[in-house]
Amino acid sequence: MYGLIATALAFAGISTAAPTLQTRQVGSEFRLRATGTLAGWALINAHSDAGRNVIQIQRPSVYQSDPSYFNGTYLFFDLEGAPVPYSVQMPEVPAGYVAQVTSQPGDHTPGFGLNAEQLLTWNSNAEGFWACPVNDVFELFYGPNAVPANLPSTKCLEIQLQAGGL
Ligand SMILES: *[C@@H]1O[C@H](CO)[C@@H](O)[C@H](O)[C@H]1NC(C)=O
Repeated sequence: MYGLIATALAFAGISTAAPTLQTRQVGSEFRLRATGTLAGWALINAHSDAGRNVIQIQRPSVYQSDPSYFNGTYLFFDLEGAPVPYSVQMPEVPAGYVAQVTSQPGDHTPGFGLNAEQLLTWNSNAEGFWACPVNDVFELFYGPNAVPANLPSTKCLEIQLQAGGL
């Protein structure tokens, strides 16, 4: 527990020192990291099936988030070796449920931004993101006002995503 708190504080220190991202140019890069119980954990693209990545949430002691950038209100990941840019695809979510967030080649879901706290927003809302374990690794899900009984695991954690420096 002490280690977890120390890690959270270390990352809080880094993010307050980071420059304001809202004023940066389109195409300039940042890294998204989880907040809350998983403060500082890294967002990593992981191949799922042809042309589709899931977004894992991994320990910051081992992993560094894939660099992100905006083009308009599309959120992209800068993936080494990818022939075309991958952007975030938000799922269709039945009310009260969550569904998996993916990234795919090309322009997918518009409506992303950062708020004054540098939290990632979708349709102006920073809430609704979840880390749920899939084969013992957290993956990114979305579902505003999800009902606990509908979550894919009792170990799902509600998180927000904060932009910080590279
Ligand atoms: C932004 O998207 C437009 C339209 O898809 C594209 O033409 C342009 O090259 C992109 N800019 C950057 C910096 O990726």
